[in-house]
Amino acid sequence: MRFLEKILGKRDSKEEITMEKLNIGIILGSTRQGRVSPQVGAWVKDIADKRGDANYEIVDIADFNLPFVFTTDGEEPGIKAWHDKLSSLDGFVFIVQEYNHSISGALKNAIDTAGEQWNNKAAGFVSYGSTGGARAVEHLRGILGEVQVADVRVHPTLSLFTDFENGTVFKPAELHLENVNGMLDQVNKWSTALKTVRG
Ligand SMILES: Cc1cc2nc3c(=O)[nH]c(=O)nc-3n(C[C@H](O)[C@H](O)[C@H](O)COP(=O)(O)O)c2cc1C
Repeated sequence: MRFLEKILGKRDSKEEITMEKLNIGIILGSTRQGRVSPQVGAWVKDIADKRGDANYEIVDIADFNLPFVFTTDGEEPGIKAWHDKLSSLDGFVFIVQEYNHSISGALKNAIDTAGEQWNNKAAGFVSYGSTGGARAVEHLRGILGEVQVADVRVHPTLSLFTDFENGTVFKPAELHLENVNGMLDQVNKWSTALKTVRG
C-alpha cells in the first residue's frame, strides 16, 4: 500500500476500502449429528478459494455453543465470539438444509442471536433437500431482510437424491459449478458495495 501511495499519491479511504480483499463466511446452517453440511461447505470453499478474489472461511455455528436465544443472561463466551466473528465478515454464503420446509432451528437461533453485526452485508445460498432446499431458502431470504442482509439471486440447489449417494455422501453434479461461481460473483459485488455504506 505504501509503495502505491508513493507512485499514485494518497488515496481516499473509499478507494482503500475497495482494494482490500473481502472476508466472506461460509456458514454451516446445521448442527445435527451426522450432518452433511461440512461436505457441502468444504466443496463451496474449494471452488471459492480457486477464485482468489476474497478471503473465504468456514463458519460452523456448532463451534459457538449458542444457547437458545434469550434464555440466559447472555454472558456465554460463545455469544461474544459469534458477534465478533460476524463483525469480522463482509458477506456470507449460507449452506442451507431444508428442515420441515424451512431452515434449521439452529440456523434461525444463530441469526436471532445477533443484530447489528448482520446489517448492510450481502448473502448468497447453496442449499440441499428433496427439492434442492428451495423452500428453506425462500424463508431465509425473508428472515435476512429483517436483519438488513441483501440476498443475491443466483442460488445453486443440490438434490439429496442425485447430488448425494444414499443422502449422505456428497457427489455434486458438474453443472452446479457455474452456479456457485455466479452466486459468488454477486455476493462479492454486493459485499463490496455495502462495505462503503457501513463506514
Ligand atoms: C427434522 C427434519 C426435517 C426435515 N424436513 C425436510 C423437508 O421438509 N424437506 C426436505 O427436502 N428435507 C427434509 N429433511 C431432510 C434433510 O434436508 C436432510 O436430512 C439433510 O441432510 C439435512 O442437512 P444436514 O445433514 O446438514 O443436517 C428433514 C430432516 C430432518 C432431520
